[in-house]
Amino acid sequence: MAKMWAGRTSGVTDSVADDFNSSIHFDYKMYKQDIKGSMAHALMLGTQNIITKKEAETLIDGLQTILDDLNSGTLEFNMNCEDIHMFIEEELTSRLGDVGKKLHTARSRNDQVALDLRMYLRDETNDIINLTKDLILAVTEKAEEHKSTILPGYTHLQRAQPISFGHHLMAYSMMLIRDVNRLTDCVKRMNVSPIGSCALAGTTYNTDRVFEAQQLGFSDIAMNSIDGVSDRDFCVELMSDLSILMMHLSRFSEEVILWSSWEFKFVELSDAYTTGSSIMPQKKNPDMAELVRGKTGRVYGDLMALLTTLKGLPLAYNKDMQEDKESVFDAVETVKMCLKVFAPMIATMNVCKDNMKKAAQEGFINATDLADYLVKKGLPFRSAYKISGQIVAKCINDGKVLETLTLEEYKSFSPLFDNDLYEDIDLKTCVEKRISQGGTGLASVEKQIKQTKEFLNQ
Ligand code: ARG
Repeated sequence: MAKMWAGRTSGVTDSVADDFNSSIHFDYKMYKQDIKGSMAHALMLGTQNIITKKEAETLIDGLQTILDDLNSGTLEFNMNCEDIHMFIEEELTSRLGDVGKKLHTARSRNDQVALDLRMYLRDETNDIINLTKDLILAVTEKAEEHKSTILPGYTHLQRAQPISFGHHLMAYSMMLIRDVNRLTDCVKRMNVSPIGSCALAGTTYNTDRVFEAQQLGFSDIAMNSIDGVSDRDFCVELMSDLSILMMHLSRFSEEVILWSSWEFKFVELSDAYTTGSSIMPQKKNPDMAELVRGKTGRVYGDLMALLTTLKGLPLAYNKDMQEDKESVFDAVETVKMCLKVFAPMIATMNVCKDNMKKAAQEGFINATDLADYLVKKGLPFRSAYKISGQIVAKCINDGKVLETLTLEEYKSFSPLFDNDLYEDIDLKTCVEKRISQGGTGLASVEKQIKQTKEFLNQ
């Protein structure tokens, strides 16, 4: 079949070249945006008397019937078409006859595809923002439940200081709030309309780009037509933001995986989010968390693919840019799936408080508090640090912990020790005393929870 653009050439292309060139098998996803964009375009053409009002109405009605038929499944995508834009236009012309051919006045597929993609990603990004908020809520509710559950906090994956599990979880809420803010910001820059840039140079027709942009909910129009058709920053920016989000989910996954190992046993995942082994009957594998960690590499790859595609492109549109969609669609779909599985996985995760407590009791994680005790009694911190280190060494040697050393033994290291030291090195006190802003103390964790809930409700 000859192409719609037959004219200069015969429009008859090699069938392998056709398959290679075609994008409908992935850009069909933008059919709603393509049709809505075309409706706004027809309306603008009519309002500006570039076509008659009657013709505009006919085009809009025709486009609506195509939209309805695609939605209901009465009409199927013709995968022999080059792309979604050609498919809709050909379908419209076959339904309306010659008037259908007027739709593409003062427009090019170059500005049309840029428009569709911005509209599509605007919707997808808003979905991702909502899914991220669902996850923040799940994490924050779990944190609230465990605002007084004590476990060791780690540095270098070595037991460091006692913290509350609620505080630990709220660190992830903070990361995810930044993700939501980044994505919200990304939508602002995405929400600029390229339509009316035409092929690259604008048009001689008396178009109204602002009117058309407003019909489609854009807050501004691209100020340079060449940039309008060749800018894919919004895809790169979105995938950068999604990469950061995935990096957060991947770190969280790594902890969930560690925590659910026999070595830690800090949490037990619900059966609904684990799998068994086909050979080892004892296994309960955290596959969901592992897949999220794995898919993070995939999303980074999507970002790298598009950055690499764009880096050598001269202005304005080049067909290389058709490669943008598979990368960005894959990133968007992957992130959505990860968020959908992550939130309920966290919400249903059982926390093994006793194991956390036991781990907290074994690692000398109150040694800093022992040093702080001596500082409180007047010793400079460095000297206090040294004495506490010597006491830890003695405990390790004698198979004891700081809590079981006698006062006499303490006094042999420094006369400043008194009975009240036991209160200061009690794990509960250690956590409660960390009242500095943003610390693990209860009031600080409660404040984080409150502010996060306010953020979610705004
Ligand atoms: N399918 C194309 C894409 O995704 C649409 C734009 C084609 N423009 C062109 N001049 N061939 O980029």
